[in-house]
Amino acid sequence: MNQRNNHVPPPLKLGSLAYGGDYNPDQWPEEIWKEDFSLMQEAGVNLVTVGVFSWAKLQPRPGAFEPEWLDRVLELASAHGVSVDLATATASPPAWLIRQHPEILPVDVNGVQLGFGSRQHYCPSSPLYREAAVQLATELVRRYHDHPAVVMYHVGNEYGCHVPQCYCEISAASFRRWLKGRYESIEALNHAWGTAFWSQRYDDWDEIEPPRRAPTFPNPTQQLDFARFSSDELLECFLAERRSIEAIDTSKPITTNFMAFFRPTDGWKWSKHQDIVTMDSYPDPFDSEIALQSAMVADLTRSLGGGRPWLLMEQAPSAVNWRQINAPKAPGQLRELSLAMVGRGSDGILTFQWRASAAGAEKFHSAMVPHVGQNSRVWREVVELGRDLHALQPVLGTQTVARVALALDWNNWWALELDSHPHSELRLPELLLQFYRPLFEASIATDFVHLEDDLSSYDLVIAPCSYLVSDTAATNVVHYVEGGGTFLTTFFSAIVDPNDHIRLGGYPAPWREMLAISVEEFSPLEKGQTVSLGGILAHSGSTGSTWSENLTAQGATTLLHITGGDLHGVPALTVAPYGDGQGYYLSTLPDAQTLSTIVGQLLADTKISPPLPHQRGVETITRGEFIFVTNHNSHYVTIELGQSYTDLLSTNGPQTTLELPPRGVAVLQPTNQRGA
Ligand code: GAL
Ligand code: ZN
Repeated sequence: MNQRNNHVPPPLKLGSLAYGGDYNPDQWPEEIWKEDFSLMQEAGVNLVTVGVFSWAKLQPRPGAFEPEWLDRVLELASAHGVSVDLATATASPPAWLIRQHPEILPVDVNGVQLGFGSRQHYCPSSPLYREAAVQLATELVRRYHDHPAVVMYHVGNEYGCHVPQCYCEISAASFRRWLKGRYESIEALNHAWGTAFWSQRYDDWDEIEPPRRAPTFPNPTQQLDFARFSSDELLECFLAERRSIEAIDTSKPITTNFMAFFRPTDGWKWSKHQDIVTMDSYPDPFDSEIALQSAMVADLTRSLGGGRPWLLMEQAPSAVNWRQINAPKAPGQLRELSLAMVGRGSDGILTFQWRASAAGAEKFHSAMVPHVGQNSRVWREVVELGRDLHALQPVLGTQTVARVALALDWNNWWALELDSHPHSELRLPELLLQFYRPLFEASIATDFVHLEDDLSSYDLVIAPCSYLVSDTAATNVVHYVEGGGTFLTTFFSAIVDPNDHIRLGGYPAPWREMLAISVEEFSPLEKGQTVSLGGILAHSGSTGSTWSENLTAQGATTLLHITGGDLHGVPALTVAPYGDGQGYYLSTLPDAQTLSTIVGQLLADTKISPPLPHQRGVETITRGEFIFVTNHNSHYVTIELGQSYTDLLSTNGPQTTLELPPRGVAVLQPTNQRGA
């Protein structure tokens, strides 16, 4: 679904689930390399990403290309049966290039030019940067495209990670060109940006600037377009390198690693250009909901790839270095989270990084080989995970299928989080999480979907705060419901069009008829403020937070209403049949228990249930014919399976009852299917 027309991506030819991580041999003397590769064999590592930050080592001075060290690394890799995800090494331009062309350095929203000395210090619009990057990528691919170790190309690294937007003059000129392409005439831009307001009218393209620091709220559509432009501009950097690789080699998958719920780059647009979608995931071990966070990222990644297997490109074997305080993963947690990722469709587990650095800003970041060496908990767990992944061989290439989807659109995300709104602290990922939580806790596989895409494979679509919807998306949803779908949306949805202009005549204008309601005025709630909720889906003490509004049911049935206060008796949750389906509308953010009841109602309506009888704290997910069962509790659990299964991760043989220790994982295959 989310693939470029007619483009059949080349598969990753590994023959097994991937295991490994970023490997930075250029940080180490060569004596260490041999030990690295024999340790990789011991751990079952079969894929390493090489050279992500090696630009300065590969091109140490103008005109020089010195890849001989990389030749030797790739030889060792081949000799040890380790495949290589070859990086184009373009994420951090070397000092000499910056000295030659300081205009490559990016400029922030305050007009401050950022300096050399950390990483990713480049303006995405800089033609000099793009040219230099393409040149290096070309040299590398020319040299190594038929090297037996190389199986995949890794372009750049985490595009936008540190510099998602640049406000320099080069970027300003590029923004103008992008706007001309989008609007063609200055009148069209003036209309789209609503420049009749505050004397913002433009007479000439050259008058337009990026939304730099201004006295107060910059024009919202200017901000929105700058977000679109900045995502596109980074994508152009990726595509330029991608094209240079394809000019030489079309036989291996090309990818760049995404960053979970990362606002600056439009995941749907970017993923169309990935042969395999790859993700970096760093949930915080201090977070008691780490398993949920991790699952949500996995589900996003699978969805971005249109359901096909994806690859976890980076995660920390234990602690990271970049939060203020960095907890290690608990014993067993690496395995627990990694295998659950495989259950959600990842065809392997890669980490950052292989060997812990001795110097530099990441020296306290965990690695598969820690500072202390092999006599360590982390190393033992790394070896154990390698064995487990080996046992999961049959899972390779199978798919995870979801019947529920949460709506996610980057345009909406950008627009929703603009300033000068009735409530300017709404954050889309947090809102999505509120709805994801009860689904995760009930072990219901969930996808993310763009509302313009085909929704027909889902029985239930939930669209929290879909503030910006295009006409296409609005109509698509109506057809989906007409055709039998169940749809739930919330407050502050379908409020504006893609220009961020209000859809007039009562909110949410394009869905009012379908939902059989109308909203007249918003009453957002202060932090800590709640409204009481009553009605058939309420429990004693049900409340709503964040938002309330003056809503009238115009034929819809009220399932929850506000009790007390200025909005006493006003509906808070409604449902209305439409065509063969039904539309729910939620005008507040209910407490977790009430929300869980609502989601339970939606699942009952649509007859969606988990793969095994539900148990608190036990995650179950189906991938292909396999059921991944993970015990996130701190106590043993016993699960009646209802039929005979064999656990790929144990030697127990067929069983109808499963016992799992804390953090325990089983991967169940129906016994009668084995060997079939
Ligand atoms: C990622 C990055 C890696 C490494 C890692 C540390 O953002 O791609 O190079 O810095 O974080 O967690
Ligand atoms: Zn710039």
